[in-house]
Amino acid sequence: MGKYDKNIQELLNVSEQINHIKDIDALLDRVLFEARIFTHSDAGSIYLMEGNRLKFRYVQNDSLFKGKKTSNKYLYTSHELEINEKSLAGYVVMTGKPLNIDDVYKIPTEHPYSFNISFDEQTSYRSKSILTIPLKTSQGTMVGILQIINRLDSRNQATSFSKEDELFVNHFANHAAVAIERAQITREIILRMINMAELRDPKETGAHVNRVGAYSIEMYQEWARNQGISEQEIKKFRDNLRIAAMLHDVGKVAISDTILKKPGKLDEQEFATMKLHCVMGARLFKNSSSEMDTMAAEVCLNHHERWDGAGYPGKIKGEEVPLTGRITALADVYDALISKRVYKDAWQEEDVLKYIQEQSGKQFDPGVIESFFSIYDVIKAIREKYIE
Ligand code: C2E
Ligand code: SIN
Ligand code: SIN
Ligand code: FE
Ligand code: FE
Repeated sequence: MGKYDKNIQELLNVSEQINHIKDIDALLDRVLFEARIFTHSDAGSIYLMEGNRLKFRYVQNDSLFKGKKTSNKYLYTSHELEINEKSLAGYVVMTGKPLNIDDVYKIPTEHPYSFNISFDEQTSYRSKSILTIPLKTSQGTMVGILQIINRLDSRNQATSFSKEDELFVNHFANHAAVAIERAQITREIILRMINMAELRDPKETGAHVNRVGAYSIEMYQEWARNQGISEQEIKKFRDNLRIAAMLHDVGKVAISDTILKKPGKLDEQEFATMKLHCVMGARLFKNSSSEMDTMAAEVCLNHHERWDGAGYPGKIKGEEVPLTGRITALADVYDALISKRVYKDAWQEEDVLKYIQEQSGKQFDPGVIESFFSIYDVIKAIREKYIE
């Protein structure tokens, strides 16, 4: 098989595989990774269309982040572009065609677009060659753009992207766009389900569940790397965990508004009813065999268990509580304490952190707490990204 045929075979395999990824962020991670492998490139990012803007959604950068033990807080950067010819990304959306630039610091001034150096300035990274590709479905829907940065030569120096790179990434991007469109719909449906269940109030947003989902996968990743779990297993687990963690309180759909939205403290009877949300949530996923649904049921059931066994509903303790439950318990309580609720004011950050430390070995798993603190910069970046 020639190099070209081998590439086509790989392209088909990878395109098949990405169709099985359910979570949009896990999918973007894989799409960017594969596009970079094809082209031997150091970095890249993805922007997705949101209304009539382009929203930064994903970044990878081997030089800056690889080998770092901790997570990458730049994933949670909020950054938007208008769709016009001034940015590389906007230009590609306007024209619908790939843009292959050898050195973005040397774009002639007569071109409508120029390179935005703010990320380079923040990080001291030097972007040179950039290939920007439209993420367009076969129906012609533009879902966003894929940007691949710094193709590396055999001495790890940035070099230009070839015509073949352009061709391959463009073809792959078609498959990726279809998968992204599908994963976006899945995420929207889940958010609607959560809105119905947990919030039931049109003024509220999915911010809390987005945060709990993101904190959970980041804590898990840190914890799992410390345990020496393989990156492949970590990615697969994350794909399911984000969605499962987002669904932790979906059982609140069964709790009446008088209890759910009570401005003051719940009495004993009301709290007993409220506690049923764990079992109610788990029931929603009972008859399904997908890994994601199984994990969602596990999270619903176990997110109020405690390490010392004093939680509910099962009153199990220590490692009897599934890892997903131990992680989401901390994610949920951290977010509940640091935010305002109908029944309580927001706590000061230092009080929340002190509380969590004090609860090590009591309410929470000490190992999970350790992971939480070692990625605390990422936790804060998540809070800044998903605001009410
Ligand atoms: P939630 O608001 O999502 O809170 C999740 C968990 O965060 C709580 O689980 C608890 O472990 C922790 N948490 C929240 N606020 C505080 C606090 O002020 N102090 C401490 N130490 N921990 C706090 P929990 O207690 O099992 O409650 C489960 C759910 O029951 C809560 O979910 C909320 O929907 C409801 N709930 C609990 N207490 C009250 C209350 O006094 N009034 C009302 N209206 N709802 C309550
Ligand atoms: C993933 O789920 O693999 C990536 C998600 C993220 O970190 O945003
Ligand atoms: C940006 O970092 O603002 C996007 C780069 C570009 O496409 O111009
Ligand atoms: Fe809950
Ligand atoms: Fe919650």
